[in-house]
Formats: sequence, C-alpha cells, structure tokens
Amino acid sequence: MSPLSVLNLARRRLGRTFALTSIFARHHSSLTDDLIENMDKKATWDRFYTENNSNSSDFKNFEWFFGFDSVRDSIMPLLQPRTTTPPDAAHRLHVLDLGCGTSALGPSIYRHSPVPVTVTCADISPVAVRLMREHIGAKGLEPHNPRSVLAFLELDCAELCAHLGPHGDRRLDLIVDKGTTDALLRSRDGSGKASHVVRQCLKALRGSGCLLQFSDEDPDARLLWLETEGREPGAPAANVAVQEVGKLRGVRYYCYRVTPPESTGC
Ligand SMILES: C[S@@+](CC[C@H](N)C(=O)[O-])C[C@H]1O[C@@H](n2cnc3c(N)ncnc32)[C@H](O)[C@@H]1O
Repeated sequence: MSPLSVLNLARRRLGRTFALTSIFARHHSSLTDDLIENMDKKATWDRFYTENNSNSSDFKNFEWFFGFDSVRDSIMPLLQPRTTTPPDAAHRLHVLDLGCGTSALGPSIYRHSPVPVTVTCADISPVAVRLMREHIGAKGLEPHNPRSVLAFLELDCAELCAHLGPHGDRRLDLIVDKGTTDALLRSRDGSGKASHVVRQCLKALRGSGCLLQFSDEDPDARLLWLETEGREPGAPAANVAVQEVGKLRGVRYYCYRVTPPESTGC
C-alpha cells in the first residue's frame, strides 16, 4: 500500500483527525499501522512516545487535537469550591486527566486553578508517565494555589475503581479526557473497553462531579453512545450535554459533559 493510501486509511479509521497526518508522515509505517488498529494497546503508545521523543534532547508536550488554551473555558469554571463539601482546610478538588499522554493539560490545570486541586495525570504508557515526571521535575512548576498537588500515575483506566480502592467510589470531582475515549473507540478491539472506562468514570465521580470528553466525533453519534454505554444495567441513564469547542483546520471539536444519573450538577 502506498504511503498516501495508508494516510487516507488512517484518516478514515480515525475520523477526521487531520492533525494526525503530519504525525503519521513522520513515523515508520508499522507504527502507523499500529496507530490505525491498536490505539487501545499499551505497546502502541509506548512506541509512539518513545519515537516521538527519540530525536530531540528537548522534551516537547504532544497535544492530541489542541492544547489547554482551547479548552480552558470548558474546564476552569468547573473548579469552584463545592457547597456540599465540608469546609475542611485540607480539602482539594480531585481532577483526573484520563490518558494524559505527554499533554500539558493536567499541569496547566494545576498551574491555573485558583482553588486547591489534586491533579492526577494517568496513562497506561509508562513511557509517557516517565517523560512527564522527568519534564516537570526538571522544569519545576508553581501552582496558582500553594495547596495544589500534581501527580503522574501509570494506570490502565479500565482499572480506575480498583485503583481508588474499596471505598474509592465517588472520589473524583472532575475527569478530563482529551482523545482517550476516541482512541479506544477507533481501535479494532477497543470499543468494549471504551464503554467500560466510561462506566468506571461515572462510578468514580462525586455526585457533584463530571466527566468532560473532548472529541471530534459528531454529536449524533457520541450523545447516543454516551447515553447508552454510560448506563449500568437497571440504572437510570447518565446526563449528557454537548458544546462545540471550536473549529480547527476545518474540523469541528466538541466537549461532551457527562454527569452521573443522581448528579447535583457540576
Ligand atoms: C489520543 S492519546 C491522547 C493523549 C492526551 N490526552 C492528549 O491530549 O494529548 C490517547 C492516550 O490514552 C492513553 N491510553 C490508551 N488506553 C488507555 C487506558 N486503558 N488507560 C489509560 N490510558 C490509556 C494512551 O497511552 C495515550 O496517551
């Protein structure tokens, strides 16, 4: 297959993520094949982040779709002290960047949040997690609120509730997912895992919390998928809303906001 056909196939499998064209063009074709089929696999991402950082001594954040500035207005207004939260001086809102990769999204939330936050940047790829730890360790990053905390964690988000522990349900205030569910959904074997991850997220959120998914998938498809797949058998459906984030290189991007069925809103 010619390189052009591979790129065209990749475009079709990945939806309209044209920004990826240049990434594919830079990479060996077997990695391209891996990205087309296997974005649900740890080995694919380990290889991606290793190759993406091999030619440069200077670390550079890799951003799927776009960076923090494009989504800050969707995220930052949600970081308000919760009225239902006891006025405990040690309390911080807990934010999870689900499948953080080497994005600056989580560190930017830590840096800009006026309320104290614990931001956990979690990824299945130990390579991405190591690169981020080394980068932030070398650079140093001052939070807006001195009580905020930033952590990096190697985690398969399908194991999120197990990781939070037996009493871990309802612990998170905000989960941000920029491209991770899209990656699972567009993999050959990833759609079941994508559904499972959404259900884990809804279980892990406080009643006042929410999950934000940033995606280029059309609302006609994603709203229905979230309403159906986010539902536990016999339980009411989650609440889902959508807002357009903007248009980039001719592609429309959306923010899907999902709140647990009994939510008090976020
Ligand atoms: C499309 S990239 C998005 C990366 C980052 N959020 C960004 O905006 O640049 C998908 C990320 O999800 C991670 N990932 C895939 N499956 C995962 C899983 N089951 N648990 C945690 N992370 C996962 C990959 O390692 C990759 O970093």
